[in-house]
Amino acid sequence: MSSKSSAAPDNSVNASAEARLQTIRVQLPTDKELVLKTIPMPADCNANGDIFGGWVMAQVDVAGAVLPARYVDGRMATVAVNQFIFKQPVRVGDILSFFAAVTRIGTTSITVQVEVYAERLRAQGHYVKVTEASLTYVAIDDNGKPRPVPIRSIQR
Ligand SMILES: CC(C)(COP(=O)(O)OP(=O)(O)OC[C@H]1O[C@@H](n2cnc3c(N)ncnc32)[C@H](O)[C@@H]1OP(=O)(O)O)[C@@H](O)C(=O)NCCC(=O)NCCS
Repeated sequence: MSSKSSAAPDNSVNASAEARLQTIRVQLPTDKELVLKTIPMPADCNANGDIFGGWVMAQVDVAGAVLPARYVDGRMATVAVNQFIFKQPVRVGDILSFFAAVTRIGTTSITVQVEVYAERLRAQGHYVKVTEASLTYVAIDDNGKPRPVPIRSIQR
């Protein structure tokens, strides 16, 4: 007759895996706006099988431009990536949510903080912060030169 303990599920293993997950799960920000959602595909992978950092940076650049686009009333360009942190790897099939907030409006430039959260494949509804970045965009004229951010757009 088999003992009762050998037939029981190993709850200690499940509990420690759950504890590890809890340490990296986070709440979504309430002080930032959801500006983009996307899902990376196998073609976006690096040699490790994770998502290529350059792909993530491109998405962050697009997401970061959404709020400045509301202010600049025309053309703009990315002038600087002030900070970029890859906190956790991004994987094929993750549902990525990009949140942004304007942190500074200068004379011709707007700086934005972007945070990226992943819902892992088969763990939807649980969020892991994978990336955070700060980028600066400049309003430009038809000749590609800086122009002032329209005051009326700042006031509305
Ligand atoms: C964006 C661009 C027009 C700015 O021209 P510039 O002559 O360098 O501009 P300025 O020195 O007058 O600075 C313009 C604004 O950008 C800000 N800025 C310039 N360099 C910066 C930097 N390294 N970090 C943060 N902000 C910066 C300035 O503080 C200024 O903001 P403010 O007017 O709100 O104070 C020019 O640099 C350019 O065309 N760059 C290429 C843009 C591009 O191709 N982006 C895509 C890259 S993949």
